[in-house]
Amino acid sequence: MLDYNVPGGKLNRGLSVVDSYMLLRQGTEVDDEDFYLACVLGWCVEWLQASALVLDDITDNAYTRRDNLCWYKLPTVGMSAINDGVLLKCHVQAIIKRYFKEKFYFLDLMELWNEIGLQTAMGQMLDLITTHTGAKDLARYRIQGYRRIVKYKTSYYSFYLPVACALLLNGARLGDYVELKNVLIEMGVYFQIQDDYLDCFGDPEVIGKVGTDIEDYKCSWLIVQAMELADENELKILYENYGKSDPACVAAVKNVYKELDLQDIFLEYESRVYKHLVSTIDAEPDRAIRDIMKSFLKKIYRRKK
Ligand code: IPE
Ligand code: MN
Ligand code: MN
Repeated sequence: MLDYNVPGGKLNRGLSVVDSYMLLRQGTEVDDEDFYLACVLGWCVEWLQASALVLDDITDNAYTRRDNLCWYKLPTVGMSAINDGVLLKCHVQAIIKRYFKEKFYFLDLMELWNEIGLQTAMGQMLDLITTHTGAKDLARYRIQGYRRIVKYKTSYYSFYLPVACALLLNGARLGDYVELKNVLIEMGVYFQIQDDYLDCFGDPEVIGKVGTDIEDYKCSWLIVQAMELADENELKILYENYGKSDPACVAAVKNVYKELDLQDIFLEYESRVYKHLVSTIDAEPDRAIRDIMKSFLKKIYRRKK
């Protein structure tokens, strides 16, 4: 179960712990033990991610993940995948206890992971219950609600958590890094918007999964934009076809997206956020913090070809 679910991704989140820690320590010698501990926390992020994905694929009724069948889709697994998802998450606590019990920041570390676990689960809850309001009336899908979902379900664990781990490992107090947190959350929102875009327009061969957002009635960035821009005729098509698994319905929705030039609107949004992030990063006085922000920016914009 571990071999199938933990290592197969890009490991971006886990590596971010190590990268961020090394940037915080720039100019100082890092001994083997400290490096090892950064790796331990990096793997913990990957285990949490594995847990979230195993469970997310069940609730999202997905088929493929990381070029493979979703774990719960294996005939020998099925719904026992729910327990596997829980196991993966519980083990993070066990690993942290094993390696960090005697550290002065142990309590801070446990609190951080509990808080992020709660935020992520609440984000997933928002994502799932929003689908019911959208199914009643698609017009309820708005950008503010969208941003709230993705901040919680994606940004905290994927962007803030790795850096917060590195900061604690370095003896810092998390309360002193509010601006860094805001920048990372903003990057997470951009990252999820890109994920939503690729769910519809990405090549499954490249992204390693087949999108199901339209079929699932998801409050995706694309439908939020479409509801704002569509004329009466296009709105009618969206209302009639969104949230249906019939391939003809999915195609009709995608066709409206194309008519509305959502691909161009995504590119515009992307360059706007990029510029905003660059100017925020340039204004950051602390060199190590600036370098961490820059390394994340490079990672999220490298994904697109
Ligand atoms: C995943 O959100 C967020 C978590 C797993 C916490 P999505 O459902 O939008 O992601 P994909 O597209 O299935 O990877
Ligand atoms: Mn989901
Ligand atoms: Mn999903």
